[in-house]
Amino acid sequence: MRIEPAKIIEFTTTIDTQVLICYQSFMKEGLNLHIRLTKNIPKPTYYAAAIDGEFANYSFNEERAHAFRGKWREDVFKVNESVPFDLEIGTGNGFYFAHHAISYPERCLLGIEIKYKPLIQSIRRALRQGCENARIARYNANYIWELFKDNELDNVYIHFPDPWVKRSKKKNRLINAKFLLEMHKKQKENSFIEFKTDSLDYFIWAHEFFKASEYVIEDLTYDLHSSKFASTNFVTHFEKIFIKQDIKINYLKAYKR
Ligand SMILES: C[S@@+](CC[C@H](N)C(=O)[O-])C[C@H]1O[C@@H](n2cnc3c(N)ncnc32)[C@H](O)[C@@H]1O
Repeated sequence: MRIEPAKIIEFTTTIDTQVLICYQSFMKEGLNLHIRLTKNIPKPTYYAAAIDGEFANYSFNEERAHAFRGKWREDVFKVNESVPFDLEIGTGNGFYFAHHAISYPERCLLGIEIKYKPLIQSIRRALRQGCENARIARYNANYIWELFKDNELDNVYIHFPDPWVKRSKKKNRLINAKFLLEMHKKQKENSFIEFKTDSLDYFIWAHEFFKASEYVIEDLTYDLHSSKFASTNFVTHFEKIFIKQDIKINYLKAYKR
């Protein structure tokens, strides 16, 4: 059966309208990150309360973070467009986060964490060491691209994300086709994603997605600590644990060219 072009347009328009209505109602209800928003936590712990309390000048709940989309440099870091703006996803207790902020005072750094305790530990660690260029936000990294406009970000660091090794859970892995497609739009030209993991299975999986993406992989090793990249590598908290267990660390760096 041949469908008339006019019918196709009618059908497409109907779908678009449905999508629009759905999107509008989603916006009315607020963010849907598949996590409970901080404002809805009935009895916040010290750490959950500290985001909007003690550390409110340096840490952002999901909605505050979302409101800075496209305005991180200007409204949060108070710097101009030429200042590099990096992102660390899953800061844990923040050893790399603080190290990065101290090592590169000429750059800005945003950390993303889903758990309150490591989130506050990270920002507290950076502040205690005198950093003024670091901020942290609570967000589900599976939707991280929502926080930035195109070309807003410089380098992105992903160190030891949850590996989700069970077959049925692999869909939860942070690195996938959608993630790389979206992050590629958000990063500036010549910036990179640095990815480290102890899980060979996750690494092979992620490598396939990187190869299929627009990123260009320029550094890669299945044994970081025996490689030429070891001398410039900062050992994170989780990395230390894996090294003690003699687990090899997989590493790749992929650029937006
Ligand atoms: C294995 S730890 C690694 C911490 C640190 N990068 C390191 O190397 O020591 C993974 C971190 O990612 C955070 N995380 C896990 N899933 C996340 C998500 N969907 N969004 C944001 N952070 C997440 C966890 O809370 C945890 O702190």
